[in-house]
Amino acid sequence: MKYLIINGSPRKKNTWSMAKQAKTNLEGEFEEIQLMKEKIPMCNGCFKCIMEGEENCPHYEIVNSILEKIKWSDGLIITSPVYAMNVTALIKNFFDHTAYLYHRPKFFDKKALVIVSTAGAGQKDVANYIGENLRHWGFNKIYQITYACGGKESINTEEINKVSQKFHKDIVSKKLHAPNIGDLIFYNLWRAMISTKEPIKIDKEYWESTGLVNYEFAPDVNLGFIKKIFAKIMFFILKKVIK
Ligand SMILES: Cc1cc2nc3c(=O)[nH]c(=O)nc-3n(C[C@H](O)[C@H](O)[C@H](O)COP(=O)(O)O)c2cc1C
Repeated sequence: MKYLIINGSPRKKNTWSMAKQAKTNLEGEFEEIQLMKEKIPMCNGCFKCIMEGEENCPHYEIVNSILEKIKWSDGLIITSPVYAMNVTALIKNFFDHTAYLYHRPKFFDKKALVIVSTAGAGQKDVANYIGENLRHWGFNKIYQITYACGGKESINTEEINKVSQKFHKDIVSKKLHAPNIGDLIFYNLWRAMISTKEPIKIDKEYWESTGLVNYEFAPDVNLGFIKKIFAKIMFFILKKVIK
């Protein structure tokens, strides 16, 4: 199995110790990205990735090299400490550069383990935010490990082992899980958006060229009967409302 670890902390301390402990339960090849070292310039809000295609982002090379490693991996481990009740600026800036993936999701066969440490608060919200962002990219399953260290240099070894073993087992199984209702709605919203009078050209091209426009969800993921019917109805309604 191939694993990519992205450290969203500017240092290798509490959050990194948790990632290192999780790594002891994973087997395979590893790649590591310290976001601090990538030095991605701040997203300048030019909208080029969204409106003209991600290749037009002025920081495309750096951002895309990270996304290529995600594509290479079977499992992503992504970490952040809580900073001012949110993710670090490193993670947020990286996510801002990938906002176009909300429009054109693609990582439907990927699973992630989100690791968040904090002194005392905000860990669940931050882990949920990272997970939600990844699901908008198309990620199939998100595992979470959070810990409030209370200023001490301790980690929650038992929980880290339990969750990371489960994560590894799931990666090995290659099983793709059915999406939740929220994911289905968002997928079909973006799918429906290309039928408006003036759709974003690049979005339309993407949904058509990949063939995703013809499916209620990514075709490799088995929705089951009820979710399939729900998605069909949802798409029909969204298309009408958006028009
Ligand atoms: C700039 C900054 C902001 C922080 N904000 C919070 C916070 O809002 N709530 C909290 O409980 N801890 C906060 N912390 C504490 C860190 O989340 C905590 O010490 C974390 O374990 C550090 O991880 P690291 O060792 O990987 O950097 C903050 C720390 C820093 C440096």
